[in-house]
Amino acid sequence: MKNTDIDYPQTLVPLSRADLLARLHAQLSDGRFAHVQRVEQTAIKLAQQYGGDVQRAGLAGLVHDYAKQRPDAEFKQLIRQQRFDPDLLTANNGIWHGVIGAYLVERELGIHDTQVLNAIRRHTIGAVEMTTLDKIIFVADFIEPGRDFPGVDQARAAAEASLDAGVRFEITNTLKFLIAKQVNIYPKTIDTYNAWVAGH
Ligand SMILES: [Fe+2]
Ligand SMILES: [Fe+2]
Repeated sequence: MKNTDIDYPQTLVPLSRADLLARLHAQLSDGRFAHVQRVEQTAIKLAQQYGGDVQRAGLAGLVHDYAKQRPDAEFKQLIRQQRFDPDLLTANNGIWHGVIGAYLVERELGIHDTQVLNAIRRHTIGAVEMTTLDKIIFVADFIEPGRDFPGVDQARAAAEASLDAGVRFEITNTLKFLIAKQVNIYPKTIDTYNAWVAGH
């Protein structure tokens, strides 16, 4: 049995693995569906390596990008309707699919576990305070075996040295990337950077 064959307990998700995979595939392109399964596998390995909760790590890894392909208009409507931080209206899918994605995962997949939902919420921008599970999902998404951006080997080496080193590398690289593109930077991303990198 591969790690990815985990059938998650009903206490975490009220769907069989087959149903969960079908629900994910209905929302995601083939490429992204393959990505989330690699993130699941990577998150499980990191949880085993760093004493994290293997089942929550696997599940959060599997569903972290559930909302990634929703239209911008739907996210904007939800920000207004559900009274999310109004600053989010100036952000984009890169932020929304984590922060608001967690809300959709809860509502549509019936996952109510706070630790899993927080890890999804925080996977795009990190947070000043991150749990082991948050760090695992943040890092697993960045270093899963399908990733091949410049610097991925360094990111993997950092994650091998420690989970915190993986987070620091990733938030630094993400900010460099955003600055190079001259796009709007969501303020909480900078808070994460200040807490994790500038203070060390
Ligand atoms: Fe994502
Ligand atoms: Fe992802």
